[in-house]
Amino acid sequence: MRVLVITGAGVSAESGIPTFRGKDGYWRNLDPAKLATPEAFARDPKLVWEWYRERRQRICNAQPNAAHAAIAKLAQHANEFLLVTQNVDDLHVRAGMPKEKMVQIHGNIFITRCSRCDFSQKDYKHEHEQEHEHEHEHEHEKEDQDVDLPRCPECNALMRPGVVWFGEQLPWNELQRVESYLDRGSCDLVIVAGTTATFGYIIDWALRASRDGGELIEVNPEETPLSQFATQLVREPAAVAMPQIVDQIIGS
Ligand code: APR
Repeated sequence: MRVLVITGAGVSAESGIPTFRGKDGYWRNLDPAKLATPEAFARDPKLVWEWYRERRQRICNAQPNAAHAAIAKLAQHANEFLLVTQNVDDLHVRAGMPKEKMVQIHGNIFITRCSRCDFSQKDYKHEHEQEHEHEHEHEHEKEDQDVDLPRCPECNALMRPGVVWFGEQLPWNELQRVESYLDRGSCDLVIVAGTTATFGYIIDWALRASRDGGELIEVNPEETPLSQFATQLVREPAAVAMPQIVDQIIGS
């Protein structure tokens, strides 16, 4: 069986990570133009870093849910499998998803990369230090400033979160991985879970993958632009629906 799974923020909602456009979604209260664009970062990098650090902290405190676990199980079971996630959190990986079977098409929030050169690094450390740091608040006055706005050790430019902001290109290597998976053949099963399918490429990839009569299952309590193309609509939360769908597939 050849499978493609596409996920969005809705899959991490039951782990306590807000979605973007759903009820209480980030974009309901916050303006993406002020937080998730290169212009916003140029204008106020401190504000942007504060928001991404808050999100990193929330993700560090969260646990993968039954949807993440079910998708990891399907990845083990399928002959060929690719997960394309729009989520920048690490919950799919923490649920056991092998990195070689997953593409984070909007980047990884725990990557910190230079805003000018190619330097980048994994950055889990800061969040865990946060709790203890305030104990010695005054001692590290100078350090705090630097910590809030990390600079590139190679070229001293500002470092930024390793995510794709509005108006930016998708990461080339990741895109090639999706394209080559789709070019290598159609899929028997496509599952699209927890996304408003806002971006055309999400719908395009789902339709291309299911082009030869493959199943196209949408898991989302709400209707999306993809719903009209689905062969099966599951209007339930992902952590409820995904284990049932996967057990059915594996059981069959
Ligand atoms: N289970 C399944 N789906 C859910 C759940 C749930 N428990 N809770 C909410 N949803 C659905 C909502 O109905 C909505 O359709 O998840 C979707 C979340 O949509 P968005 O908030 O738009 O998130 P997403 O589609 O991932 O956004 C795409 O936009 O803001 C940018 O870069 C950001 O990757 C993000 C991209």
